[in-house]
Amino acid sequence: MQVLVINGSPRTKGNSDLLCDEFIRGAKESGNQVEKISLREKEVYPCRACYACFKTGFCVQKDDMADILNKMEKADVLVLASPTYFLTMSGQMKTFIDRLLPKWQKLGGKDAYVIVTGHDGKKGLKRCAEDMTVILENLGDRVKQIIWGEHVWQKGEVLKTRAMEEAYLTGEKITAV
Ligand SMILES: Cc1cc2nc3c(=O)[nH]c(=O)nc-3n(C[C@H](O)[C@H](O)[C@H](O)COP(=O)(O)O)c2cc1C
Repeated sequence: MQVLVINGSPRTKGNSDLLCDEFIRGAKESGNQVEKISLREKEVYPCRACYACFKTGFCVQKDDMADILNKMEKADVLVLASPTYFLTMSGQMKTFIDRLLPKWQKLGGKDAYVIVTGHDGKKGLKRCAEDMTVILENLGDRVKQIIWGEHVWQKGEVLKTRAMEEAYLTGEKITAV
């Protein structure tokens, strides 16, 4: 299976990054092809609401988003990861999601996973996880599991939590059948 992991955290080796890497380690060990896209390394401008994409199928903005959309379309499995910022996803993740518009009808039918982190417990991370889940479901994808990186604030704190093992085992469970 082609697995595409999209991380919306601005922090290199932050908690979201570490959970993504552990998920990827599991997914690779069970034979999947995995690519990770860190939105912090990409140029993704905000949607301009010009609706040109409704006519042409393409965005007028020349940045990294066209390439990301092609990769998303080809992937069998999508993973969205974000830290919780003021109860929801990071700005990087939301900006990226708005830019799905040119292809939003072509990204469905896939299995999907959500990775969420934050200093709060599940109750505080719920909206962030639900917002990403609902967006994936709205595209027509099936969210099979949410990985909760709860009670983590500083970089690396997630390493001491059970979420790491959960991320690994969830990735490992991805198989073609
Ligand atoms: C601007 C900002 C807002 C935040 N808001 C929340 C929040 O509402 N709830 C929460 O649990 N954590 C919040 N946090 C903490 C981060 O979610 C937490 O540090 C997370 O582990 C960061 O993930 P990262 O290491 O992948 O960057 C916030 C952090 C920042 C920088």
